[in-house]
Amino acid sequence: MNATIVLLPGDGIGPEIVAQAKRVLEVIAGRFGHTFTMPQHAIGGNAIDSCGDPLPEETLNACRNATAVLLGAVGGPKWDDPKAKTRPEAGLLRIRKELGLFANLRPTKTWDELLDASPLKREIIAGTDILFVRELTGGIYFGESGRRPHPSGEEAWNVMIYSTGEIERVVRVAADAARKRRGKLTMVDKANVLEASRLWRQVAERVVREEYPDLEYNVVLVDSMAMHLISKPREFDVVVTENLFGDILTDEASMLPGSLGLLPSASIGSSGPGLFEPIHGSAPDIAGKNLANPLATILAAAMMLRYSMSMNTEADAIEDAVSRVLKAGHRTKDIAGNGPSISTTEMGDLVVEMLRQ
Ligand code: IPM
Ligand code: MN
Repeated sequence: MNATIVLLPGDGIGPEIVAQAKRVLEVIAGRFGHTFTMPQHAIGGNAIDSCGDPLPEETLNACRNATAVLLGAVGGPKWDDPKAKTRPEAGLLRIRKELGLFANLRPTKTWDELLDASPLKREIIAGTDILFVRELTGGIYFGESGRRPHPSGEEAWNVMIYSTGEIERVVRVAADAARKRRGKLTMVDKANVLEASRLWRQVAERVVREEYPDLEYNVVLVDSMAMHLISKPREFDVVVTENLFGDILTDEASMLPGSLGLLPSASIGSSGPGLFEPIHGSAPDIAGKNLANPLATILAAAMMLRYSMSMNTEADAIEDAVSRVLKAGHRTKDIAGNGPSISTTEMGDLVVEMLRQ
């Protein structure tokens, strides 16, 4: 198969980790007889620096025409001025919106070989396997916002707004996924307070009742979910929720497997290229030091092969190589605890080596 994979390294550790994922994809192409063309484009802070726009037209066009997009991370202290005209994150939000990527899949699974890397107790987290489906192009992230004068200074607002259609389509993605897994779907909202959540509850319940009566379905309030996630994470299979709740809960959930550095994510729409990225940020504190964990990005590349190109064998090969590297005891700093650690490029070398075997 011929595929065009647009690489968007972005800022901070982005270029270092995407470089390792690219090597892995090259090995896969060689081993399985594919041709991957992997042009690189600017996004985020570096794009602001080079052309004043966190999502240049040229980048967006390249993404629209791609088979899939692999992104590193965006943002950093250099572009954090609250008064700045634009921010790196605006580029990420725009690309999600422009490509119609309304569903963000964030699988969170503990690795047996890493149970002690988590700050949580092994007996609580062992066996955790949750797929979060976060709504990605609506809600408070994209609702009306503004500021106006106020007797105390100013006031500012952001509106959380959802339509029936936006809720239905993401609930279907989650419910379809639940059918292929353990058949359990949890919808998380704040329906005791928010009107937008009450619409979510009504619509999700109807979709599940009419189209997915075979699923075991329940609803949990988001504050309660924050607690259940660390007290009984094994109870959950697929969790669907709105944009902001999903953002927060998935960072919390990343502590179950022990490190943000291990978690990939897929953003997909109803058609067109998907976008694949690690769930962690640009980690400016360790950028350029060859310390970052490239595994989340490498696993995001595996998700990309699986979801965008139906290359299940190839995706399995990557996931298996990562698992064997971890089993052999190799650790980057974020998952090493007090033990010895290896660099970003060494971790890349090891995965590539395993893939060649
Ligand atoms: C994420 C990130 C982004 C988000 C930021 C960088 C805009 O935290 O992908 O979870 O909030 O969606
Ligand atoms: Mn986030």
